[in-house]
Amino acid sequence: MSGIRSVVRGIGSYLPERILSNADLACRVETSDDWIVQRTGIRQRHIAAEGEYTSHLALKAAERALADAGFAARDIDLIVLATATPDQTFPATAVTVQAELGITRGAAFDLQAVCSGFVFALATADAHLKTGAFQRALVIGAETFSRILDWEDRGTCVLFGDGAGAMIIEAVQVDDAKGAGLITHHLRSDGRHRSKLYVDGGPSTTGTAGHLRMEGREVFKHAVGMITDVIVDAFAATGESADSIAWFVPHQANRRIIDASAQKLGIAPEKVVITVDLHGNTSAASIPLALDVAVKDGRVKRGDLVLLEAMGGGFTWGSALIRW
Ligand code: UT7
Repeated sequence: MSGIRSVVRGIGSYLPERILSNADLACRVETSDDWIVQRTGIRQRHIAAEGEYTSHLALKAAERALADAGFAARDIDLIVLATATPDQTFPATAVTVQAELGITRGAAFDLQAVCSGFVFALATADAHLKTGAFQRALVIGAETFSRILDWEDRGTCVLFGDGAGAMIIEAVQVDDAKGAGLITHHLRSDGRHRSKLYVDGGPSTTGTAGHLRMEGREVFKHAVGMITDVIVDAFAATGESADSIAWFVPHQANRRIIDASAQKLGIAPEKVVITVDLHGNTSAASIPLALDVAVKDGRVKRGDLVLLEAMGGGFTWGSALIRW
């Protein structure tokens, strides 16, 4: 099958220096390391410094992805930045990153799908590359969730962290379906669930940024089913399976959700990339952060079939299958 395929050229990530441990949190709210580890698998998270914004984290991840790809910033003609915590209501954080990289051509925009943001951004960039309008895309997931947490609410403040990850994909003409690149993606949303995970502010309602609110048990209840549905869709569309994938890189929200999803799909535990213990839930940044760890430590190699999935506020959820 000939056509344009989006091939991964590089990946990079960045975590703010400051680490907040579960023990640190137990000094602020009524919680314990035991509870957090047992219920979520999280041991620590990184928190952006004062004056360190989402664009700063995104820029550092982008620079590392460019270096990994061996590309200059001027090679990029599309930036899609997934975030629910932009620097400002507008302009898009993507144009700040574009300007800081010195890119003056092509297009840059933000995409909002909360924790599913990276999968949605990757699918969006892929669709643009396939039109032939753009050649090389920088796809970023970057968040400073620490800025929208209610630090008095133990039900949410222990779960999230800050960080950024970036991937560079390039449009390549291919003649067969077996080559490297993004093979398929499946995106879903169902706004009937929008009040189960939301922020209680916004420019058009309160005029404030607001704080994250979540019915954790409700989100948990839906997560595994939604995640596995879009993965089954990816397998059905491609003929791939739990056996043929080399790596499963899920959104890192909760270890129990990841384990239950992998188990339901029959994905062997040793194929699952886990970073939630060290990063917490970094929303749109979690997948590229986890992927970067697994690429840099040598687990993910050229030719490997890599399965991504995410689920989050909206609800939104999606999967992507990549031949690395
Ligand atoms: O990325 C976006 C998607 N988000 C998610 O995937 C999050 C999905 N939800 C979850 O991960 C889980 O629901 C949580 C980790 C948020 C909560 O775990 P849970 O097993 O569903 O606990 P729960 O909400 O049912 O709460 C159990 C108990 C409650 O006490 P009672 O009512 O049984 O007395 C909570 O008040 O745990 C209490 N609790 C805590 N205790 C200590 C809630 N938060 C904490 C805490 N420390 N931080």
